[in-house]
Amino acid sequence: MSRNKKIIIAIDGPAASGKSTTAREVAGRLGYTYIDSGAMYRAVTLRALRENIAADDDEKITALARKIQLKFKKNSSKTIIYMDGEDVSDKIRTPQIDQNISPVAANPRIRSIMVEKQREIGRHGGVVMDGRDIGTVVFPTADLKIFMKASVKERALRRLKELEQKGLNMDFNKVVADIKYRDQQDISRNFGPLKKADDAIEIDTTQLTVEEQIEKIMTLAGQIIDC
Ligand code: CDP
Repeated sequence: MSRNKKIIIAIDGPAASGKSTTAREVAGRLGYTYIDSGAMYRAVTLRALRENIAADDDEKITALARKIQLKFKKNSSKTIIYMDGEDVSDKIRTPQIDQNISPVAANPRIRSIMVEKQREIGRHGGVVMDGRDIGTVVFPTADLKIFMKASVKERALRRLKELEQKGLNMDFNKVVADIKYRDQQDISRNFGPLKKADDAIEIDTTQLTVEEQIEKIMTLAGQIIDC
């Protein structure tokens, strides 16, 4: 496969649909940069909680979103996110952040600041970015758009497993409820809602292995890069 053409791949979908694992690996195989846009909203949420700033305190939270410095660095197995130099990779992926992120992600001022940062990162192409509004708002002209979905039950099982690996034991029904709640919040917000772009290719990952998901996207990317 020719690696000369540096395309933009947008991967959107609901919580725990398999976006991040797939996007990271696809980026690795193509030699592209992987950006987890959710991590950016998560970092703003973490900082707002630490500084006791409410999501609707527009002035303070906008200032926070503007000044926050986010850097992604890849090591062998995962992507580390630094917030003003501090490794917050694990701190941003907790049930507490999950439960507090929706109003932050729904704030249009925060969204426009994050979208600006995301576009800047993707300016030269060679990027795989995952999120909710990447194919619709951030990169509406992305070369390849994927919309990943999976049943709520399967997504909850995946999230439960992820939490268990971190030593957190949660009740299955609670995880289902949290995912449903966040889906609902993501779908119904006015700005940058979770939505399949008209030209996105839908992949249902309920029955797929991670490798199968990666292969599907690699094939689609290959067709674009080679032509
Ligand atoms: O892995 P999971 O889907 O649970 O989380 P994530 O992708 O890190 O996204 C966390 C939250 O950030 C989502 O529920 C959205 O509310 C928000 N988000 C967003 O609003 N826009 C994006 N482009 C990415 C995430």
